[in-house]
Amino acid sequence: MGVDRALLLERCERTIERTDFPELGERVEGKVRDSYVREGRRVMVTTDRISCFDVIVGTIPLKGQVLNQLSAFWFERTRSIGPNHLLEVPDPNVSVVRQCRPLPVEFVFRAYLTGVTPTSIWYAYERGKRLYCGHKLPDGLQKHERLPELLLTPTTKAEKGAHDELISREEAIERGMVSEELFDRAAQLTRSLFEAGMRWADRQGMILVDTKYELGLDSEGELVVIDEIHTPDSSRYWYRDTYERALSEGRDPEALDKEYVRRWLASNGYTGDGEPPKLPDEIRCEAAARYIEAYERVTGLPFEPADDDPSTRIRRSLGLFSSKSV
Ligand SMILES: Nc1ncnc2c1ncn2[C@@H]1O[C@H](COP(=O)(O)OP(=O)(O)O)[C@@H](O)[C@H]1O
Ligand SMILES: [Mg+2]
Repeated sequence: MGVDRALLLERCERTIERTDFPELGERVEGKVRDSYVREGRRVMVTTDRISCFDVIVGTIPLKGQVLNQLSAFWFERTRSIGPNHLLEVPDPNVSVVRQCRPLPVEFVFRAYLTGVTPTSIWYAYERGKRLYCGHKLPDGLQKHERLPELLLTPTTKAEKGAHDELISREEAIERGMVSEELFDRAAQLTRSLFEAGMRWADRQGMILVDTKYELGLDSEGELVVIDEIHTPDSSRYWYRDTYERALSEGRDPEALDKEYVRRWLASNGYTGDGEPPKLPDEIRCEAAARYIEAYERVTGLPFEPADDDPSTRIRRSLGLFSSKSV
């Protein structure tokens, strides 16, 4: 299990930074995914871009494949809980999904008092706030401690370049973002997904700490889970076996998510303003190894790096002529 460091270093030169397949439909660029929309379908290419503090700070080799395959793994596993957008996975970096109308609210579930960014629950708690997204929090809780109950802490879905904003259930309904009925249905669905995710992670020796879900309405008006699910970009994972010890020694729990890159950036004086420092290959390889480890730990399957020059491979997988790249 795991991937050879020499291979990761080699792949640093061949990451997927940007794609352009006009044949596939209208191109929509997100921070991490390039999507192509046509006739009710959306071809989502997960690139190797990494965003921290809502800024793209570089690429991590094989990250796109990890995210795409991990998402697909979870979408298959959770179909019995509720419908999702996934139709097929024609390439390690590509998912074909049903085009939906995204809800303007993101459903975030939190099981632990943690986080570093200004919207995180620990950030608020540390500064004395005892009301968070409409939930009352008791005094005396420690950093990284399990919360007395699972909390739904929604955010608005920000436009590109802006930051998501915390919001309560009541505010989301009052502002007319979603109806009460739809909000509660979405909350129930995502709660079940999170509980299933926590149970599965526990079996694999992991803790699913928190996660963010996006939902949409399909052409029939059905509520479906969209975007990605339980990936290290949308979720925080800790190792279960070292958690108690870290907590009792006042250390941060060992994490399997993009916290590693965030911490490197922060220790180099970057927290989202201005030009980010260039990620050294050593940091990119370590981050890649962690993403791959997350895949293997969570799925219990060995990660197999897709070979070939990625853009030629993706063209071939999607049945596109590769005239441009020969
Ligand atoms: N099934 C879907 N229908 C419509 N939009 C979707 C669907 N799945 C994901 N999206 C949107 O596609 C984008 C995915 O690209 P990503 O790079 O993750 O974007 P972001 O910068 O918003 O995080 C997101 O804006 C997400 O809301
Ligand atoms: Mg996203």
